[in-house]
Amino acid sequence: MDIRGLGYVTVQSRDLQQWRRYAGEVLGMMVVEVAAGDALLLKMDERPYRLCIEQADRDGFGACGWELAGVEAFEQALAELEQTDVPVQRGTTAEAAARQVQALARFQDPDGNRHELFWGPRQDFARFVSPVGVQGFVTGELGMGHAVLPAPSFDRCRAFYEEVMGLRLSDLMKVRFTSDPAEPEKRIHFLHCNNARHHSLALFECPVPSGCVHLMVEVTRLDDVGRALDRMHANGVKLSATLGQHLNDEMVSFYMQTPGGFDLEYGCHGKQVDWSRHTPFESTVVSQWGHDFSVGRQ
Ligand SMILES: [Fe+2]
Repeated sequence: MDIRGLGYVTVQSRDLQQWRRYAGEVLGMMVVEVAAGDALLLKMDERPYRLCIEQADRDGFGACGWELAGVEAFEQALAELEQTDVPVQRGTTAEAAARQVQALARFQDPDGNRHELFWGPRQDFARFVSPVGVQGFVTGELGMGHAVLPAPSFDRCRAFYEEVMGLRLSDLMKVRFTSDPAEPEKRIHFLHCNNARHHSLALFECPVPSGCVHLMVEVTRLDDVGRALDRMHANGVKLSATLGQHLNDEMVSFYMQTPGGFDLEYGCHGKQVDWSRHTPFESTVVSQWGHDFSVGRQ
């Protein structure tokens, strides 16, 4: 599959008002309610939305929306899924219109993580103007950010993403989150698609009830990361990990809770990679400095 980027992400919510406040006042995104009133579109750039919060009977992650290079790449991707016996559901014209794309399809990975494929996003190129003064989010060719998904059937999932979806390994990690040597090491593998973002997806070897470990969005300057941290405190949102810098993608970020029950990483200065020059490495620690996840467990 010729996946060009993580175009959008959907989230399920029992209470859209919680997300309206969180997205506008903490994340600094523009919030638009759809006409039917059953979803919020969160705008981060010139596209009408990058996050779609859908009214549901649960709080949690929805799906990753992967952008294909065009109609031929879209049809090719569907044919490849069908060849590997992965059930694919083509979206109706109305569903594609709701996502504001030319065509849409849905499928799941071996652990039931949901994915959508699309091509040709519709956009009016209206400027992004943050309600709280965020200068901008780093998107464009790099996609909207990255998602880390639970993959208890780790090896099956890894093979699926590489062999069926055509994602490539960026780097690997094996970590314990406590100093207890009895804690089993868990694998996290970082995968990229056809753009320079270090990873658009990572797989974590553990089940997660919300359906997502974390979602990452990147802003253009460190100043806006610090101000987001201030807004998190001011709005009573719980910190999940302190400010720090990752080893692999060099992102300077912090983690906080979302109303979806998963974390959101808010960062800047993520590395852009020339894949022809890159060689993967396995790290045994998460970060150069900071990123104390024990604060989230307290
Ligand atoms: Fe991350």
